[in-house]
Amino acid sequence: MTVRTADAAALDEAGRLIRDGALVAFPTETVYGIGADATNGRAVAGIFEAKGRPHFNPLIVHVPDLAAAEKIAEFTPLARRLAVAFWPGPLTLVLERRAEAGISDLVSAGLTSIAVRVPAHPIAQQLLAAAGRPLAAPSANRSGRVSPTRAEHVEEDLGQRVAMILDGGATAHGLESTIVDGRGDAAILLRSGAVAREAIEAVVGAPLARGPESDDVHPTAPGQLTSHYAPNAMLRLNARDVRPGEALLAFGPDVPDTANPVLNLSAGGDLVEAAAALFAALRALDRTGTGAIAVMPIPERGLGEAINDRLRRAAAPRPA
Ligand code: TXA
Ligand code: MG
Repeated sequence: MTVRTADAAALDEAGRLIRDGALVAFPTETVYGIGADATNGRAVAGIFEAKGRPHFNPLIVHVPDLAAAEKIAEFTPLARRLAVAFWPGPLTLVLERRAEAGISDLVSAGLTSIAVRVPAHPIAQQLLAAAGRPLAAPSANRSGRVSPTRAEHVEEDLGQRVAMILDGGATAHGLESTIVDGRGDAAILLRSGAVAREAIEAVVGAPLARGPESDDVHPTAPGQLTSHYAPNAMLRLNARDVRPGEALLAFGPDVPDTANPVLNLSAGGDLVEAAAALFAALRALDRTGTGAIAVMPIPERGLGEAINDRLRRAAAPRPA
C-alpha cells in the first residue's frame, strides 16, 4: 500500500526511504509535493523520471526553518524580512545558492540561484525532521497535469512511481506557493500563488515588480526561459569522435580514444545516473578551458529526453 496515514511509524519509514534515495510524496499547505533528498543527485533525477518531464526545470528545496535555509542560500536583508514575515508558509524565495551546501546541481537545473521554502504543514515538517535532509520537491503530478491537492490525486498520477504517499487529507490552499526573487534590493514576483501580492508589498513597503514568468507558465518556449545555465564552451552534439581542442562529454561504455579531457555521464549507460551528473559535468568540462565540448549521442528515452533537451539548448546559438 503506497498511501499511508502519517503516523509515527510511517514517518519514520518515510525518513529512512528519503535517506536511502527513494521518493516520498507528502502534503504541504499548498499542494502535495514529490520529495527527494536534495543532496542526492540520483534521487533528484528520479523525481524528473517519475514526473515524466521532457525537460529539467529547477526545483524548490524545502527546509525546516530559516536557519536551515541560510545554510543553502545567501539571504539579502530583503529576503530575511520576507522569511520572517511569511515562514513557515507558502512563500518561496529565489536566492543565490551556497555551493558548499552540497545540494545537487540538478535541483537548480545548473543555475547559480536556488528556490527555498519552509512549509507550514505539520506532516511536511515531520517528514523534514524524520529525514534530516533538505527535500527537493516539485508538485506531485505527472508532467502536464494539474497540481494534486489530495493523496488520491497523487496516487492516480504517481502511485507506482513513489515509495510512499503520506496522506494528510486535502491541502489548505490548493494553490502553489508564491515565488519571489529576493536577491536584489527590490522584490520581484516570479509566480503568483498562495501569498497575495498585497501581503508581500505590505512587508517590503514597495510595489512588487513582475519578473519573467517561471517555466511552469510557458513550458514550451525554450528561447524564453529565464537564465538557464549554458556552458561557455561551444557544444557539438551526437559526436562520435573527438576533434582537436574539444573536451568530450561521454555516455556509455564505447568511448572514442582521446588524450583530451573526458567525463563520462554514465559508463554503464544509465540515464538516471547521467541526469544526476549532467550539470556538474558541463561545468567541470567548461573549466578545462577547451572552449569546445563534443557530446556523444544520448538515447531519446526516459530521462534521455530531458538530457537532450538541455544539451540542445546549451548548443543553440545564444545572444552575446
Ligand atoms: O507550493 C509549492 O511551491 C509546491 C509545493 C510542493 O511546495 N511546489 C511546486 O513546485 O509548485 P514546482 O516544481 O511545481 O514549481 C516550482 C517552480 C517552477 O516554476 C520553477 O521554475 C521555479 O519554481 N523555480 C525553482 N527554482 C528556481 C530558480 N532558481 N529560479 C527561478 N525559478 C525557480
Ligand atoms: Mg508544478
